[in-house]
Amino acid sequence: MEHQPWWQKGVIYQIYPRSFLDTTHNGVGDLKGIIKKMDYLKELGVAGIWLCPIFPSPMYDFGYDTSDYYNIEPLFGSMEVFDELLLKAREKKIRILLDLALNHSSHLHPWFIESSSSRDNPKADWYIWAEPRLLKRRPNNWKSVFGGPAWSWSEQRKQFYLHSFLPEQPDLNWRNPEVKKQIFKILRSWLEKGVDGFRLDVVDFYLKDEKLRSNPYCPGRRPYEMQKHIFDKNRPENIEIMKEIRNLLEDYPEKIALGEVAERNAKIAASYYGPENDGLHINFNFNFLEQPWKAAAFKKAIEEWEGLLGPENWPVYTLSNHDVPRHFTRFGNCEARARVAATLLLTLRGTPFLYYGEEIGMSQGKIPRFRILDPVGKRYWPFHHGRDGCRTPMQWNGYRNSGFSSANPWLPVNQNYKEVNLAAQKKDPNSLFHFYRTLITFRNNSMALQKGEIQFLDINNPQVLAFRRQYELEKLLIILNFSSRKQTAVLPSELSGLKLVFPEKKAGIERQKKQLNLSPNGLGIFRE
Ligand code: GLC
Repeated sequence: MEHQPWWQKGVIYQIYPRSFLDTTHNGVGDLKGIIKKMDYLKELGVAGIWLCPIFPSPMYDFGYDTSDYYNIEPLFGSMEVFDELLLKAREKKIRILLDLALNHSSHLHPWFIESSSSRDNPKADWYIWAEPRLLKRRPNNWKSVFGGPAWSWSEQRKQFYLHSFLPEQPDLNWRNPEVKKQIFKILRSWLEKGVDGFRLDVVDFYLKDEKLRSNPYCPGRRPYEMQKHIFDKNRPENIEIMKEIRNLLEDYPEKIALGEVAERNAKIAASYYGPENDGLHINFNFNFLEQPWKAAAFKKAIEEWEGLLGPENWPVYTLSNHDVPRHFTRFGNCEARARVAATLLLTLRGTPFLYYGEEIGMSQGKIPRFRILDPVGKRYWPFHHGRDGCRTPMQWNGYRNSGFSSANPWLPVNQNYKEVNLAAQKKDPNSLFHFYRTLITFRNNSMALQKGEIQFLDINNPQVLAFRRQYELEKLLIILNFSSRKQTAVLPSELSGLKLVFPEKKAGIERQKKQLNLSPNGLGIFRE
């Protein structure tokens, strides 16, 4: 049997370290907290963890503004604690992916401090500097994703520098071979240390147009959307960088690069796999992430992604992350739907990424205005409340601060923690937590789910998703009723001897000859 790498077989769990578990009593989660919960992650059945940035940072964007790529942020621990974390993870056979923000550094990174000190220092060209146009106008019309122009003025250099995000996140000049060399050195040093790969932040932004041409106008709601971003991101040459990163990683067996291409356009996201599967190993698919709660919408997104990737490239699916409202809330704060969503995520062909807390149905936190910390929320409130609501502390138990910290947590704990918490759900065999755990175990034991092909069935009901997963002799049929009403589905005649294998109880699906009667949000995995 052909060997399948760990990152295709297993489930990966995203941790936002600030919010997982605080062991130092300062209200901020830390690496020791993650070590403490490694047994829990093992029990849940995950094969790997993606850690949001843990490097020293002034935290203007909570770690996505790195001031030292070789060390650990003291708030989170030290290199010794990180070594301990790696060891513990290895002992539990859990892989570690680090999150590297390499499109930009912090403005307090020594590279930027040097680069901005004069026009002729050795790092003068390490960031993207440009002369003002007539009357001190900015070099072009590019906008920052977080609002306002993408250019800020440096008094020292009497020039503008580019920042695709905050002014405190200057964009590195990836066209400078020395910068690239330094970045590749960073990658190698962490690989040598034993991490299993990287989640690479906003890879679509790495290369910009060499001539810094202005983007053409297009209709849109926000100023950022009123431009076609053809010159400030997704440059065709960018793919060459992905190939170089892939090449570098080939020296380290089973280590991977996972790209964040925050593109609704699945075609662009797919292009980062490289023309011959020679780009990044896997890439997020934000098109799937942003679908409304409709079976037909998900079906379309999955079929499109599968079609674009073909059999060579490996899909990735995720429903929540630290930048978007939690899907539990997006899908109507409804546990029955969360079960359908989890079953979809964990039975598709491709690697499922879970976001901490989704396994207990954590909902989007409501953050009062005076506690908003995310720069996006601060800038756009009340139109956009920012991203703090999906980053609230993990709800471990019903005690003070949900067991997250003995001190005042950096973000408020979701008020529902007395009802929604892990300790309570562990005691209840019918809880969402046990649902996730048994489903992940089922997936970990099923070659059809890990490796098999996927094929949608036409069952004459747009509210219901039905697809087969098959590998060698193992054949599974997954049925998901997205609606909160009863539904029926007509199965093709060759599907006769179906046996329900998940969930063991209360699937909410009844067979009547060739027809299936599904209760509201009924779901099931059947063996053919
Ligand atoms: C990515 C990260 C996000 C961050 C941004 C800028 O989208 O996921 O949290 O703010 O990049 O680094």
